[in-house]
Amino acid sequence: SSVVEDQLDPFLLVEHELSILTNRLRSMVVAEVPKLASAAEYFFKLGVEGKRFRPMVLLLMATALNVHIPGPPSDAVVDALSEELRKRQQRVAEITEMIHVASLLHDDVLDDADTRRGIGSLNFVMGNKLAVLAGDFLLSRACVALASLKNTEVVSLIATAVEHLVTGETMQMTSTSEQRCSMEYYLQKTYYKTASLISNSCKAIALLAGQTTEVSMLAYEYGKNLGLAFQLIDDILDFTGTSTSLGKGSLSDIRHKEGGDRGCRKGGGGRMAATRHGSGGDDGGQWCSRGGEEGIITAPILYAMEEFPQLRAVVDRGFHNPTDVDLALDYLGKSRGIQRARELAAKHATLASAAIDSLPESDDEDVRISRRALVDLTHRVITRTK
Ligand code: FPP
Ligand code: FPP
Ligand code: MG
Ligand code: MG
Repeated sequence: SSVVEDQLDPFLLVEHELSILTNRLRSMVVAEVPKLASAAEYFFKLGVEGKRFRPMVLLLMATALNVHIPGPPSDAVVDALSEELRKRQQRVAEITEMIHVASLLHDDVLDDADTRRGIGSLNFVMGNKLAVLAGDFLLSRACVALASLKNTEVVSLIATAVEHLVTGETMQMTSTSEQRCSMEYYLQKTYYKTASLISNSCKAIALLAGQTTEVSMLAYEYGKNLGLAFQLIDDILDFTGTSTSLGKGSLSDIRHKEGGDRGCRKGGGGRMAATRHGSGGDDGGQWCSRGGEEGIITAPILYAMEEFPQLRAVVDRGFHNPTDVDLALDYLGKSRGIQRARELAAKHATLASAAIDSLPESDDEDVRISRRALVDLTHRVITRTK
């Protein structure tokens, strides 16, 4: 690819630092007890490290917010200070990724998943109990690393993000019919589940750099809006799949799942298949959390429901019946649901990009390149097809 493209490729820009970070993560998750050790290192092994999207964004943000430490050029003290700051910012990226992986381990238990990152999920391979303990272990190691930064404001931000992960997951698991059909509830839940960790970590990166409240807020806004845009596109892709034609992929997934009893796999459940537990009563029943995204109504359907209020009754039936899935997809296809969800994603991408553009100007070349990459990332997120 061209030099210009490479300059913008967010992963290439921090490639070397990311590989160092990956190695550090491996050393940070070593446990004494053999079973716990193999469980904790499971998703840090070569080939299953995931996209490391969060550390990538955080390292770019660190450079984008680089402040010139005053002093004579190439002064040893100045250099040592910038190096120390960079290390602390790398710690935040490591902590964030560790919390992310911990949440995935717990999520796979809750969803009864059997695959993750192309291999067996940890709960599937070692059982729920070890998977929960491994998640707790990663969370504690993240806490230790966090404490070593000796910055209570940063501790508070990250702890809040963990609280939000738990809150978002619980909101998803316990929503009433009314809440499931509310766009406001959906967006709040999405912020908690997807955007809070990256946004609060972006803010932590800024705070460590000694940035002003204003700049820290812009870093936070970037992370928040990028996360929201990402999730909205994710929700759209769940319907459109890799093809542009509506309903392909999802439709067959849902149909497939209806036949089985296990379900509970990402991609095997679809967002609309739900299992209702408890009484045969109507509203207020318990929505079961088994089955990946089951029972989750996302932005495209919520918008479609505004155009076709009849859809509400279909949604409330819980998609036990494959014909209800077809019916919902039919309404969705006739509605502007996908388009409006896309527009909302684009709005958040624009807000993220605007946050970067509002940063105080800098003539440092590295700073400018990183900012351009962060802006470019907002475009990549909304144009991605997988
Ligand atoms: C989250 O990790 C990953 C993301 C939110 C980013 C994935 C985004 C893209 C592939 C497209 C946008 C970015 C670029 C550079 C084109 P995850 O929860 O999906 O899990 P993981 O840790 O297993 O990757
Ligand atoms: C992925 O959801 C899951 C999350 C983004 C967060 C899950 C959070 C918890 C389980 C709370 C516990 C948190 C910690 C820090 C231990 P998904 O099921 O929608 O997506 P998937 O396709 O990646 O499974
Ligand atoms: Mg889940
Ligand atoms: Mg899941």
